[in-house]
Amino acid sequence: MKRVALLGATGSIGRQAIEIVEAHPELELCAAASGSSPLDGIAAPFTQVGGDLTELLDRAEPDVVLNAVVGFTGIHATLWALEHGVDLALANKESLVAAGDLALAAQRRGGGRLLPVDSEHSALFQCLEGREPDQVAALVLTGSGGPFRGRTRDELADVTPEAALAHPTWRMGPKITVDSSTLANKGLELIEAHFLFGVPYERIEVILQPTSIVHSLVRFRDGAALAHIGYPDMRAPISFALTYPERAATPLAPLDLTSLTLEFAAPDLETFPMLALAREAGERGGTYPCAFNAANEVAVAAFLDGRLPFLSIAEVVADAIERVDGAPANDIDDLLEADARARALAGETVAVA
Ligand SMILES: NC(=O)c1ccc[n+]([C@@H]2O[C@H](COP(=O)([O-])OP(=O)(O)OC[C@H]3O[C@@H](n4cnc5c(N)ncnc54)[C@H](OP(=O)(O)O)[C@@H]3O)[C@@H](O)[C@H]2O)c1
Repeated sequence: MKRVALLGATGSIGRQAIEIVEAHPELELCAAASGSSPLDGIAAPFTQVGGDLTELLDRAEPDVVLNAVVGFTGIHATLWALEHGVDLALANKESLVAAGDLALAAQRRGGGRLLPVDSEHSALFQCLEGREPDQVAALVLTGSGGPFRGRTRDELADVTPEAALAHPTWRMGPKITVDSSTLANKGLELIEAHFLFGVPYERIEVILQPTSIVHSLVRFRDGAALAHIGYPDMRAPISFALTYPERAATPLAPLDLTSLTLEFAAPDLETFPMLALAREAGERGGTYPCAFNAANEVAVAAFLDGRLPFLSIAEVVADAIERVDGAPANDIDDLLEADARARALAGETVAVA
């Protein structure tokens, strides 16, 4: 029996995770948490709405933490699991992007496994099978391109939150859906892949595959390229992470290969500058990825509130990256300070936009 603590139980990942847990007799929900929504109908010995997630984890003593909270607020739960040597099934990419080296140091001390839930990173993890970075010629992250793929900058000037929330292939929470429309999500995933797999940025590529059938691939140094393919359904990577190293049965439909035509295209980096900004933040290192994430969270919230035009999201983030000092964080206090500083700078830019 594996005891699962589900953080973000009322969200898109959280609800699908409950389905997976209920379908597997060897999984047991020992804790569930949300930010403010009631946990109606979610049965777990320990539940919590709001508050300090690490206190809940201390009490629940899980075997695996599924961190499906949205945003930097998931940082403490990520560090708790890594520090305590408890397996971390990570959907909350923002925490790994922001904490980076601090998170990996916590994992080295704690010794728990870091199991990606993001579909691209689950795909890469499965293709890599634990191989060392020196056997990898490149990691190739795939992306659908979001609802605005193919548009020009002029055509993006007046797009509404409703249009940005209409993702072509995935049904997800609002923040990640907007991130998909700006390509910030692919940028966060680029940094996430760097920290998860230890591959330098110059060997991480991004390619668009509009139907989201190819979940990512690894080019090995011997010329072989291994891809992970399947329908876009988060229950597959959630189940893989929760039941690892087993491959438990899921109710997913088998892939109908005869119905597939796979098309690929390079991302348009000029129309969607967030991907290049994320690469720049990742390559600069230190707390630049933290600043990228923090400014993006502020800008996306403002866009969803109707306070910021779509194209200004990237301007807010670019400005914050230029103005922070980006010095590496020695501890969580340094990181919280870097996050707060970037949020304050982004808030100033939003206010005058
Ligand atoms: N959805 C996907 O398909 C997908 C795919 C890959 C990766 N991810 C990643 O998974 C994470 C969750 O995404 P999502 O789409 O599931 O988001 P979502 O639908 O917006 O759900 C977010 C969840 O986080 C909870 N939450 C927010 N603040 C919290 C806090 N302070 N303490 C405890 N819980 C808190 C929310 O609770 P309330 O209901 O109370 O607000 C909700 O349960 C994100 O990092 C996202 O990037 C998602």
